[in-house]
Amino acid sequence: MSRIIAISLSKGGVGKTTTAVNLAASLSLENKHVLLVDTDTQGQAGLALGVNAAAGLAEVVSGDVPLRSAVIQARSNLDLISGGPGLASVKREIARAEFGGERILNRALESINDSYDYVIVDTAPGWDSLQVNVLFYAREVLAPILHFLRYVLDMLDNFIAIYSKIIHARKGIEPSGHFLIGRLGYSTKENRFTLMSHRHNWGCSG
Ligand SMILES: Nc1ncnc2c1ncn2[C@@H]1O[C@H](COP(=O)(O)OP(=O)(O)OP(=O)(O)O)[C@@H](O)[C@H]1O
Ligand SMILES: [Mg+2]
Repeated sequence: MSRIIAISLSKGGVGKTTTAVNLAASLSLENKHVLLVDTDTQGQAGLALGVNAAAGLAEVVSGDVPLRSAVIQARSNLDLISGGPGLASVKREIARAEFGGERILNRALESINDSYDYVIVDTAPGWDSLQVNVLFYAREVLAPILHFLRYVLDMLDNFIAIYSKIIHARKGIEPSGHFLIGRLGYSTKENRFTLMSHRHNWGCSG
């Protein structure tokens, strides 16, 4: 079974895209077959890889383009489904759905999951219906924290609280969470304590 990992945290500018692109690229260099899915209207994963796709996730969800036609080979072993401004229409489609709107992304992508060792999903900052869809689709979440600052950690607590509700609503699959510390004022005792307590809240190992 493929590992489907959302790189996600509601705070902006914490390193989500950088982590998603570099993790995907590193895994592909390890001979893993990787799909990177960009769910951000900023479309920066494609920019980072130098890919300018004619169609992406928005066209897949709307049914305008078959899933396989939106998959672009960005590197050897590394495929991309692009994000970009068109994703605004996906949010409208989710809002219009009477039932199961939170699983629209899952339904759009599930047929391709097992073609890959890893599906890495880059996400937008903030909370919206597409972000909730990502968390209904992914089996793991990696939350990057570029700056080890109090307000970022508060945001992480908030994220964990909402994510816990989503885990409860999903049933079946038990997703796991990880967080990744970037630049870090880890050296002080207070910061080490804070990090330990967040690890405990998240129930994760690293
Ligand atoms: N580990 C890191 N060390 C130093 N700089 C980093 C690291 N990760 C990301 N950056 C820098 O931080 C900035 C924000 O990174 P990035 O765009 O990946 O964040 P993001 O969470 O995807 O932002 P957004 O929420 O807007 O999508 C960029 O300038 C990036 O180069
Ligand atoms: Mg980003």
